[in-house]
Amino acid sequence: MEIEKIKAAALKELAEAAGSKAIIEVRNKYLSKKGPFAALYHELGKLPIEEKGPFGKAVNDARNEVSLALEAKLKEAEANEERERLLGERIDVTLPGTSLYEGHTNPFYLILDEIVDIFVSMGYDVVEGEDVETVPYNFSLLNIPEEHPSRDPSDTFYLPGEGVLRTQTSAAQGHEMQRREGKGAIKLISPGKCYRRDEDDLTHSHQFGQVEGLVVDKGVSLAELKGTLEIFVKKMFGEKREIRFRSSYFPFTEPSVEVDVSCASCHGKGCSMCKGTGWIEILGAGEVHPNVLRMNGYDPSIYSGFAFGVGIDRVAILRYGIDDIRRIYTNDKRFLSAFKEEK
Ligand code: DAH
Repeated sequence: MEIEKIKAAALKELAEAAGSKAIIEVRNKYLSKKGPFAALYHELGKLPIEEKGPFGKAVNDARNEVSLALEAKLKEAEANEERERLLGERIDVTLPGTSLYEGHTNPFYLILDEIVDIFVSMGYDVVEGEDVETVPYNFSLLNIPEEHPSRDPSDTFYLPGEGVLRTQTSAAQGHEMQRREGKGAIKLISPGKCYRRDEDDLTHSHQFGQVEGLVVDKGVSLAELKGTLEIFVKKMFGEKREIRFRSSYFPFTEPSVEVDVSCASCHGKGCSMCKGTGWIEILGAGEVHPNVLRMNGYDPSIYSGFAFGVGIDRVAILRYGIDDIRRIYTNDKRFLSAFKEEK
């Protein structure tokens, strides 16, 4: 019988159809308006009246059977395909991720923060100066004579016009004394970057950091300066580190000293870091020269003071045993990552 043949053919093709696409093709072929079941309905009209009912029912039953089987198989196939798609998209959370470079504080600023903390704990104020200074503040008001070699353009970066790249944080002295109009005590530090036309090598750099210290009051003595610097050096480098004071000369202090700390690398024996001397100079200091007080509005017969200038990079080299001062500003990530703070 025609109906049975069509049904059998449809079910056979359905059984062979793999995947939702093939199943839909079977559906289009057999169940659409142009398919064989639709054609059978057209034949209904030609049949004698008494055969119409049984024939129509037989076509319906066959078509329903095919349709039910087809929809069931299609549903299953679609579910399988969806599962496979999701499996294919699965993310392996155990795979290593792309690591991001995490920034952290440069050793220069780690040391600077420590220096600042030590002086703040001794009651010092912190004043930030400017990288661009003028010749009077950088030189003249510090009693540095016109013919002094440090003023030479081969030593100092002059800018077009009046400006000069600060060669020393001592430039803060004039600003701070003048700001107070010659009255009242001063106790401050002024940290910042300084610049000089230096040939860069292991221990010299055209850019470096200093922390200037200035104390002015009635009756300030050199003994206080010595005591202060000893406290600073011991806090910074540890009680065991040796310190020596050498008498020295600076135009803005009288008397002047330089302070050395025993070399961290060779512990005083002499190496390339300390140029064979066993000592590394970290600061200059002295009693504020009366001319500096006077030029900046303080009466030296009433006031006295002391000043010091600490090299930040030098301190960093000593504390961390850095073998080349240039590493501090060249930003090599391999070097810097050694200074990652513990979280
Ligand atoms: N300004 C000096 C320098 O750059 C360092 C210094 C020495 C600063 C003695 C001072 C001082 O305040 O008293 O070499």
